[in-house]
Amino acid sequence: MAMLAVISLKGGVGKTSVALGLAATAWAAGHRTLVIDLDPQANATAALDPKPYEFTSNDVLADGRTGIAEEAIVASGWGPGIDVIAGERALEHRGHAEGPESALRLRMTLSGALDRYHTVLIDCPPSLGELTRNALAAAPAALIVTEPSYFALQGAEQALEAVEVARAATNLALRPAGIVVNRVRRSAEHTYRLGELRRAYPALVLEPVIPDRTAMAAAQGAAVPITKLSATGARDLARRFTSLAANIEEALS
Ligand SMILES: Nc1ncnc2c1ncn2[C@@H]1O[C@H](COP(=O)(O)OP(=O)(O)O)[C@@H](O)[C@H]1O
Ligand SMILES: [Mg+2]
Repeated sequence: MAMLAVISLKGGVGKTSVALGLAATAWAAGHRTLVIDLDPQANATAALDPKPYEFTSNDVLADGRTGIAEEAIVASGWGPGIDVIAGERALEHRGHAEGPESALRLRMTLSGALDRYHTVLIDCPPSLGELTRNALAAAPAALIVTEPSYFALQGAEQALEAVEVARAATNLALRPAGIVVNRVRRSAEHTYRLGELRRAYPALVLEPVIPDRTAMAAAQGAAVPITKLSATGARDLARRFTSLAANIEEALS
């Protein structure tokens, strides 16, 4: 599935959950997978339960040397074949541009470090600031996550704008991979908002949508991939993430 920056305007919409869901299904399919955690909250890092590590994405960005990210890659606790570059609180202080090249730091540090991975997911913080700009400069595609809420249309529009700005400024290869609609419930409001999104972005709203299921939080809390849980809800989520990954791949091919 290649490399995706997982972004959104707001927190709590499911960026980390979607990144972890896609990572789980890629890994379950036998693909070498790397998750790069750029969020100061480091939720993806906690869920992936990595082995003890010395360096984080914050250290990598502070260092900035070409290819240095290699030294921050650690094995996740899920099992062999899925690795992490951990996030940490200190990333909070990296939210502002420092000079014209500062959005390019992540890309420089990742240079040559990713060759062995089939799938690379960058979990971004809940804003379109400097860290997300670094992710958008480093990845060839951006996956936008939203909930089917009143603000979803506006949020998707702003996220797509940020992708366009990053494309023009730092990364001509960058494309939107699509919009994932997460936490969908069978309510009139959600059905309406989902319809609204599909009408506004017929080519970008990805199928399947991801329903609201307690298994999502259960998997994260237990630090296991969603593919390892046997509850009906977990199996449904795993199936959906597998189809979603296939559809993203097709959208980008
Ligand atoms: N599809 C879902 N069903 C149920 N809970 C979800 C779902 N997606 C996310 N959550 C829960 O919502 C909260 C926020 O999700 P998270 O992925 O951390 O969002 P973000 O990374 O955008 O801040 C977490 O507690 C997560 O477990
Ligand atoms: Mg998150």
